[in-house]
Amino acid sequence: MRHIVILTGAGVSAESGLGTFRDQDGLWTKYDLEDVATPEGFSRNPALVHGFYNARRANCLAASPNAAHAALARLQDAFNGRVTLVTQNVDDLHERAGADDVIHMHGTLPGALCAVCDHRWPAPASMDYLAACPSCGGPDTRPDIVWFGEMPYRMEEIYTALQDADLFVAIGTSGTVYPAAGFVAEAHAVGAQTLEINLEPSTTNGLFDHARIGPATKTVPEWVQDILRQ
Ligand code: OAD
Repeated sequence: MRHIVILTGAGVSAESGLGTFRDQDGLWTKYDLEDVATPEGFSRNPALVHGFYNARRANCLAASPNAAHAALARLQDAFNGRVTLVTQNVDDLHERAGADDVIHMHGTLPGALCAVCDHRWPAPASMDYLAACPSCGGPDTRPDIVWFGEMPYRMEEIYTALQDADLFVAIGTSGTVYPAAGFVAEAHAVGAQTLEINLEPSTTNGLFDHARIGPATKTVPEWVQDILRQ
């Protein structure tokens, strides 16, 4: 095996204390995603949207990487081949565990973005849409998060990696949000093995060749150990 492509979702950070979206008590049971995760919601009420992401940024700063993040960083270091790590998560726990070149397809909480000139810079702990962009001086500053209806980041790079994958592994994701939910089909189509690691089988489970079911802090280190032993 030469190339492993990994996709992570909220489940990998759940045991670090960061909430998932669709589980019982998930973020989308408490907030309307139309209000806080769409460009239209941001136009309607930017203060509400900044408040939502400021709270998530504070949670993220207070959280620590767990054994699953650490195991994936170890895999990147020790695997005798290539490991592409794609995440839907906007936290930085993969990086803080030591992972390299994490592809944040849905953006990152530590980043700020100017909606006028596309300039990016490190977000302050608390963002305010009236704060001026450090590059163009415009007032429309937003978190560097991909909202519903926007194009996820680095898609060409991700599809190129999937074309070349020998193994595709989805970890802690419900497989309900496209395009990420379609990666397993892409990998399957080029003949890659496919593995799901999740607390429960996801809805796209039919497309996975194998599944490891259980909490990520247990299942991910076990899987990494098995791969490194091969
Ligand atoms: P979801 O909340 O949809 O799914 C989380 C998955 O993690 C579920 O399948 C859970 O069973 C699983 N899970 C929960 N705890 C776990 C644990 N301890 N170990 C292993 N698995 C666990 O989150 P995502 O699939 O990441 O996008 O959501 C995808 C996208 O939807 C997010 O990136 C976000 C959201 O709307 C945007 O905001 C654009």
